[in-house]
Amino acid sequence: MHLRRPALVERTEIATFEQNQNLCTMESFDWKNLSFGYIRTDANVRCYFKDGKWGDLEVTDSEYIQLHMAATCLHYGQEAFEGLKAFRGKDNRIRIFRMKENAARMHNTALGIKMAPVPAERFMEAVKTAVRKNERFVPPHGTGASLYIRPLLIGSGPEVGVKPAKEYMFMVFVTPVGPYFKEGFKPVDVMVCRGYDRAAPLGTGCYKVGGNYAASLTSLELAHNSGFSTTLYLDPKEKKYIDEAGPANFFGIKNNRFITPASKSILPSITNMSLQQLCRDMGMEVESRPVPIDELSTFEEVGACGTAAVITPIRKIVDPDTNAIYGYCSDGKPGPVSTKLYQRLNAIQTGDEPDVHGWVDILD
Ligand SMILES: Cc1ncc(COP(=O)(O)O)c(C=O)c1O
Repeated sequence: MHLRRPALVERTEIATFEQNQNLCTMESFDWKNLSFGYIRTDANVRCYFKDGKWGDLEVTDSEYIQLHMAATCLHYGQEAFEGLKAFRGKDNRIRIFRMKENAARMHNTALGIKMAPVPAERFMEAVKTAVRKNERFVPPHGTGASLYIRPLLIGSGPEVGVKPAKEYMFMVFVTPVGPYFKEGFKPVDVMVCRGYDRAAPLGTGCYKVGGNYAASLTSLELAHNSGFSTTLYLDPKEKKYIDEAGPANFFGIKNNRFITPASKSILPSITNMSLQQLCRDMGMEVESRPVPIDELSTFEEVGACGTAAVITPIRKIVDPDTNAIYGYCSDGKPGPVSTKLYQRLNAIQTGDEPDVHGWVDILD
């Protein structure tokens, strides 16, 4: 593997972390109040697919890429991404959560939209390199913040007809983040969306491709403008079943059961998969099946889950087209099961609890 050393950069050319944060030093930085946004870090990792094979990893400090104007990612949506996190433990060691699963999901996405898949080993090496090169940006233990890792795969080769590119670019950048929903682990309100779908019944909803997110922007803005944190999408075929909650999966809890939608148009969430295992560990039953919207009135707790959302408890779901309102968290606090799941997941990610399922890669 060839690691190109980051070129020395003129100090005036880039905004450093310290400049981004109004000249705060890493030590004095307010990690506890980080939002889910982009902060420039020291380096990112890149790899190119050409002549039928992937090249070596390269490290750069540039935030920009040079791209052919006819690249298929620009015209035909050949673009896939991932999202995972690294955490700092009490022991100061850095832990990356379920990176193998993200490698597998990106592989599946690549096949789904006819891109050259990144071999899992290369994916994981790129992720570890990106984290290592930015160690100083991994937030301290106990701050609730983490290092968000964003792998990205694009069709970079030129085509004018609708067909897959012959060349691809894979890159990984990182940025320190706080909670996705500004409320953090506090209940949020959600609006049912019937006027827009993020994916088609047999479309690309199960892949992590940019087009799904472009399709969600109008409805998300509508929800935000009406005072909701996100939208609850229904199945795009019949509008009878729950699909997912914005950029997160949905779950409901009742009678000691964790119930989550099974649907061809939702992203298979690695967080959801992990919560299902934690529920089984806690002696709960897990049901992955179509969840009719009417069932909302029967849940004791409901929530959204994902790498960015972690577990976000839901306080109220409003369906403006039927005037139905479903309420939870009557005391204003997250429910007991959601709280326990949040704590256990977090404890495993930060190394406070043993990693009995082998979900964590420690960087040494
Ligand atoms: C549409 C969508 N659903 C669900 C998720 C949650 O998936 P994961 O838990 O793997 O982050 C995400 C975030 O990646 C997402 O964008």
